[in-house]
Amino acid sequence: MSVIIAPSILSADFARLGDEVRMLEAGGADWIHVDVMDGRFVPNLTFGTKVIETVRRVTALPIDVHLMVVEPERYFDDFAAAGASGLTIHPEVSPHLHRQLTRIRELGCLAGAALNPSTSLEAVAEVVPELDLLLVMTVNPGFGGQRFIGSMVDKVRRARAVLDGAASAARLQVDGGINRETIATAWRAGADAFVAGNAVFAAPDPQDEIRALRDRCVTVA
Ligand code: DX5
Ligand code: ZN
Repeated sequence: MSVIIAPSILSADFARLGDEVRMLEAGGADWIHVDVMDGRFVPNLTFGTKVIETVRRVTALPIDVHLMVVEPERYFDDFAAAGASGLTIHPEVSPHLHRQLTRIRELGCLAGAALNPSTSLEAVAEVVPELDLLLVMTVNPGFGGQRFIGSMVDKVRRARAVLDGAASAARLQVDGGINRETIATAWRAGADAFVAGNAVFAAPDPQDEIRALRDRCVTVA
């Protein structure tokens, strides 16, 4: 199983965003994770179309957009046109999940669903065939630099069983508090795509950190 390392630009230096993204690409990042927050679904506010366009201009890597917003469907067309490769939405604020995931695929993007720590896997049980990515949040979304919630490891294990049971090829992603220790635990539990913000950008050498994170998966496999 290949490993996807997706650094989150939430922890980047926004004054040097283009350079930061080029640095991630040169350092072996697989995807660039873009956290869109609306101040409603989550308490924080971040960015939108313009930042996605900016990232698109400086990298050929897939752009993995995590929508922590209410009514995410309002942004699908603009974000896809701006260069998003994947759009991940939260079922907590997307009652018509089947319709939205189908629409994301129609736009040519990978369709993802993200579950808050308190949201059961049941929330996606009926749409597994519509998923290209299942994101198990390992913190409560809203901020970078939070601590990994250890009890989510069992949820990752159960999510892996759900995907395998449905013969789904969807990626199983984790997001929040991923570092050299927690990535190994999540990998063993069945995750294969890893978002890392603080771990990468607070490291003395972010490119070395990307390699170290990836190595942690391979060596414990
Ligand atoms: C959390 C975001 C994450 C965040 C992860 O709300 O969805 O993508 O950037 O940051 P770290 O790795 O610092 O926990
Ligand atoms: Zn995220």
